[in-house]
Amino acid sequence: MEGGIRGLALGKGVLICNTKEEALDGVNTIMRDKKFGDAGNTMVIEEFMTGREVSVLSFVDGNTIKIMSSAQDHKRAGDGDTGLNTGGMGTFCPSPFYTDEVDAFCKEHIYQKTVDAMKSEGRPFKGVIFFGLMLTPNGPRVLEYNARFGDPEAQVVLTRMENDIVDIFERCIDGTLADTELKFSDDASVCVMLASDGYPVSYEKGFEITGLDEFNKHDGYFCFHSGTKFDDNGKIVTNGGRVLGVTALGKDLKEARANAYKATEWVNFKNKYMRHDIGKAIDEN
Ligand code: GLY
Repeated sequence: MEGGIRGLALGKGVLICNTKEEALDGVNTIMRDKKFGDAGNTMVIEEFMTGREVSVLSFVDGNTIKIMSSAQDHKRAGDGDTGLNTGGMGTFCPSPFYTDEVDAFCKEHIYQKTVDAMKSEGRPFKGVIFFGLMLTPNGPRVLEYNARFGDPEAQVVLTRMENDIVDIFERCIDGTLADTELKFSDDASVCVMLASDGYPVSYEKGFEITGLDEFNKHDGYFCFHSGTKFDDNGKIVTNGGRVLGVTALGKDLKEARANAYKATEWVNFKNKYMRHDIGKAIDEN
């Protein structure tokens, strides 16, 4: 069972319960002990699911939905999926686990049905929908929807997209998405987040970042700024937990991964931290 409270709990209001006893304890914690205050007066109970997570971003014009290439995030702070949850420590695209069979299931049961339901409820949606999917033994399930690009999913998906993104945005506004196709290059993309050591708990910031110019010298390499700023002297310094999304293309995921890790060496700042296994599961499959 997964139990979530129906109020504001600063993102902490979900308990993942592996046994009935844990579930009952959870109900007591939320409803009797009032750990989350009045936010826990009402609870939502959901099916417990296991499986690999895949992110699928899409453009929607109110009627038509066009799916972008699939991606997979690594949410835990430490190698081997250990440590605390983060905003995302790295991604790869496409996900080899998003097979044609999964795609066909989602097209039949999830994507267009979501758009049609919003329209029929009088709230047609135009923009980007992020489908957070879990590939369970019983088939794909929706874990979450977001009305935005994913981060760091966007870094790997958009670096492979060949369309003019402004044209696609305008088609979302004008309702003409059906007249075009999204195109993605045949290569793969990997993003490794460079973070401040100590993220997501506590970390220092304000350290000068060097080596960024190197990205101008190489095609197929990108450095997306996240937690950075200019200091009073015009230098770029760290200004957050997740600092830079170092992204590289390659002919396949293995090459993209090697390229991304090579590019992480171009950039330096005090307290630089990263995972070393972004996309590693791919090589093993
Ligand atoms: N990477 C997950 C998200 O953007 O929500």
